[in-house]
Amino acid sequence: MPSLIKNIINENVLGKTVFIRADLNIPISDGKILDQTRVERLIPTINFLKSSGAKIVICSHLGRPNGKYNKDCTLKPLVEILSKVLKTNIRFSNSCVGQEVFNIKTSLQASEILLLENVRFHEQETKNNLSFAKELSKGCDLFVNDAFSCSHRAHASLHAITNFLPAYSGILLDEEIKALTSVLSSPIKPVAALVGGSKVSTKINIIENLITKMDYLIIGGAMANTFLVAEGLNVGKSLFEKDSVNVAKLILNKSKKLNCEIILPIDVIVSKTFQENQNTEIVSSDKIPVDMMALDVGPKTIKKISFIFENIKTLLWNGPLGAFELEPFGQGTFSLAKTASNLTTSKKLITVAGGGDTSSALNKAGVSDKFTYISSAGGAFLEWLEGIELPAISVLSNNK
Ligand code: 3PG
Repeated sequence: MPSLIKNIINENVLGKTVFIRADLNIPISDGKILDQTRVERLIPTINFLKSSGAKIVICSHLGRPNGKYNKDCTLKPLVEILSKVLKTNIRFSNSCVGQEVFNIKTSLQASEILLLENVRFHEQETKNNLSFAKELSKGCDLFVNDAFSCSHRAHASLHAITNFLPAYSGILLDEEIKALTSVLSSPIKPVAALVGGSKVSTKINIIENLITKMDYLIIGGAMANTFLVAEGLNVGKSLFEKDSVNVAKLILNKSKKLNCEIILPIDVIVSKTFQENQNTEIVSSDKIPVDMMALDVGPKTIKKISFIFENIKTLLWNGPLGAFELEPFGQGTFSLAKTASNLTTSKKLITVAGGGDTSSALNKAGVSDKFTYISSAGGAFLEWLEGIELPAISVLSNNK
């Protein structure tokens, strides 16, 4: 954990105008918000600022509008939900820079909140442009990064802006860093990581990093098929990556030297097609029929992994174990998520999850509120797992 980061809660913000970089990049369809988790996660920092008499300017991106206005990416629909969640009026400005927004910023009263229009409507944002960052900072006194989930981006509103304002972390950002540190850098051992998903090629660096830190690495999803092939097994019609078989072999060898036990499915649920409600069979992983594909882990694998969960102290979870979005291939993910959440509830296991499809899989399993911590981040979580320094966090440690 970068030790020099200053948290905003230790500052006197009375009467100060605070520019807070949030991640309001949430799914919206036809102006309807499909998931407001990221809005809710902002509440602690905003409430702190509000109750301390700060004037609050919220900045975020939404989608990838490529530096141009795009009506599907406007943050306007967020005004209503923010007002509801934060139980207060929210002002909105049609741009994040310029004279008009400067005037609004300087007219804010203590505890008032202004939401800026999508910062990515300006191409200078993703270019980390200094003069754009200076424009963003105008009329503000302090900068708060509460967007861990964007901190893998060296963008102007996250990075260059720290040249113009004293920079702090928000409560959510701190929470995310603490949770990830607790599983990766200083876990209570034994510690296991469960990594699922379809492509090994996108997670090679993560796996390479995890085998140096974990006692067990449980591999599920279609990625596991590539490892089964690397072990010399035939996976029938199952999805696997031919080009990654050699790297999977190297990882299997390296993990032995590092005393990290890699756990692959010992049995799988197979079907003839990748479709919902098909006939399925349970087969041993070394007996996958040539005309069938593995779409989930089988009951013996679930039992084996449950046993590991019962005997470890810390679990890092990233990705689903099967094609959970199709019935009935979510069984492995759902039943193991329940086991992990029960162990968490009875204080026997620390569970931290995040990245990609993970939170939707855990939501579907009905355990989202029972894990020790579920990260709000996708890409940033994955880069942290790779051991990459996140630029928007490094810059906070260097900011005096
Ligand atoms: C996310 O949803 O992971 C963040 O908001 C970052 O979005 P981006 O991948 O478009 O930078």
